[in-house]
Amino acid sequence: MATRPGDEAELQKREAIGVIRASRFVRKYANSKDVIDIGTIQKIHEVIFKDAWPEIAGKWRTENLKITDSSHLPPHHSEVSKFMDQANAEFIQRLSGLKTLEGLFMENTEPTDEQTKQLDAVVETTAWIHHKITHVHPFREGNGRTARLAANLILERYGLVGISIKIERENKNRYLDALKQIDKQWDYEPLKMLIYEGLADRYSGLARNIIS
Ligand SMILES: Nc1ncnc2c1ncn2[C@@H]1O[C@H](COP(=O)(O)OP(=O)(O)OP(=O)(O)O)[C@@H](O)[C@H]1O
Ligand SMILES: [Mg+2]
Repeated sequence: MATRPGDEAELQKREAIGVIRASRFVRKYANSKDVIDIGTIQKIHEVIFKDAWPEIAGKWRTENLKITDSSHLPPHHSEVSKFMDQANAEFIQRLSGLKTLEGLFMENTEPTDEQTKQLDAVVETTAWIHHKITHVHPFREGNGRTARLAANLILERYGLVGISIKIERENKNRYLDALKQIDKQWDYEPLKMLIYEGLADRYSGLARNIIS
């Protein structure tokens, strides 16, 4: 098996290619009928890191980590698999309650209250899985990238489009604050708002009241 390249530039290139491959994997998987569970999240991670760092690709971490610029300390590595098993049960349960929103915003009518509620449930589960991955930090590296792709997997599976949560420069703090807000108070609203804004970007010109 190939090992992680020592050359930093080569490593970055392989990771960047991995993210593109994983985005394609996510799109294809979202459009299939294959079951989504925590195993799918491991598969996304595996696709990202297969060439860049095969030893960790798709595997739970075996060491303890700190998150840069964050006071949240992820659980001891010996507890990761237990937390991810619990997450799997909740994930499957949450997904079973969601409805597909195909065609929403593409018709001339405003979404009904029922559709707005269903959309909110999809966005809520998207925020939940995103935060679950970053909070437990189950992988040695690439938790943020995996979480953002997992979010798109849910949006695309339930008839929406994948978004790009902006994490560059001034947006980075808003994103990190949104995650912190969940760590501290289980308040998903700021992260949900970032997801709604991502959707509003993608549906601009179509969605009138996507952010209510
Ligand atoms: N307080 C926090 N609570 C939960 N998650 C956090 C917190 N602060 C940061 N994170 C997450 O941890 C990620 C960084 O972890 P990691 O280095 O494993 O991911 P990455 O994919 O390599 O990095 P990046 O997301 O910067 O591309 C951040 O992007 C964010 O998603
Ligand atoms: Mg990192």
